[in-house]
Amino acid sequence: MSALEIRKVRKDFGSERVLKEVSLAIDSGEFLILVGPSGCGKSTLMNAIAGLEPVTSGEIHIAGEDVTWRTPAERDIAMVFQSYALYPSMTVRGNISFGLEMRKMPKAEREAAVERVADLLQMSHLLDRKPSQLSGGQRQRVAMGRALAREPKVYLFDEPLSNLDAKLRVDMRTEIKKLHQRLGTTIVYVTHDQIEAMTLADRIAVMRDGHILQLGTPDEVYNDPVDMFVAGFMGSPSMNFIAATLEGAPGRFQLRIVTPEEDDLVLPWPRQRETPAMTEQVGRDVVLGLRPEHFSEEDERLAGQAEGTPLSARVSVSEPTGADILLRLPLGEREVTARVGPTCRVAPGERLALRVDMARAVLFEQANETRLA
Ligand SMILES: Nc1ncnc2c1ncn2[C@@H]1O[C@H](COP(=O)(O)OP(=O)(O)O)[C@@H](O)[C@H]1O
Ligand SMILES: [Mg+2]
Repeated sequence: MSALEIRKVRKDFGSERVLKEVSLAIDSGEFLILVGPSGCGKSTLMNAIAGLEPVTSGEIHIAGEDVTWRTPAERDIAMVFQSYALYPSMTVRGNISFGLEMRKMPKAEREAAVERVADLLQMSHLLDRKPSQLSGGQRQRVAMGRALAREPKVYLFDEPLSNLDAKLRVDMRTEIKKLHQRLGTTIVYVTHDQIEAMTLADRIAVMRDGHILQLGTPDEVYNDPVDMFVAGFMGSPSMNFIAATLEGAPGRFQLRIVTPEEDDLVLPWPRQRETPAMTEQVGRDVVLGLRPEHFSEEDERLAGQAEGTPLSARVSVSEPTGADILLRLPLGEREVTARVGPTCRVAPGERLALRVDMARAVLFEQANETRLA
């Protein structure tokens, strides 16, 4: 039985269909992350699960029960949303225990629950303060604590860390991960932060225009995207899309990339990555997808024996990030981004010998942007 099941849920606001038959089953203890561009319907879906907005059609089941027409309080969920509001006149202790009081939890149990989450979120020393005496990050913890004081069937988090500065986000992210590992709770979590999605999720649902394009493990959505949208959405810097023509035949497919003022670049497509659909696309325009980390600087010590397909390009920009260097270089009609090691010494305008790991490349049909191989 799923902890949470969304069955063909639609939501219209007036004439706008914001959710288009979304179906999703979330296992007990699973950490599911929803990602997608702004306005694609993530919060609408969360509000529908929470019962804050009625659905237009479809059903929502929590722990096997149809809760579609139940109030938020009857659904046994706890939420932390982006615009969390604390009660300004109450102390932290009061804020955390208020919801429990409303649920008629006896005083001794309430106090124990407050101690437990204060300990968990390392905020025992803050319990007697008012929200106005807390930093933004501390307030965020209180909002989190208020949700975690309960043990609901499902937690819903809608961009809970988006108001925090970078350092605090990272700390809170680790804390949420630890909490999930320790408590094994079922969580649906919306974020627009790539790293949050990749590090926290058991599975990621990528949404666009009111529907789910792909649902899979972080590894699946990152390395095996269903289409160009998912491929381009996941990862930072984004996957490079390179216009190419597919040539050859099974066993010897290759990609021809026309680059202005240079000879055409021809990259053999790895045999083990061939798909039957490629045969029909010979002679057509395709899009080669290469992530920045699929490039590497040619290692001269290996005397050309390194893995990967060699290529060379004139570097236009070199951007050291500290941990590595992002290079911009022309490949085909546009520039691509390559991520190389921090010791790569190359000046703008110089040619650099690179290797590209074609075994990890992905291929799309240009016409409809779907995955070809
Ligand atoms: N209460 C509402 N009334 C009318 N339109 C809404 C309402 N809430 C959201 N929308 C619209 O639904 C779409 C999805 O919004 P939302 O779910 O907030 O997106 P996301 O959280 O993915 O950024 C947007 O076009 C938004 O304008
Ligand atoms: Mg939103």
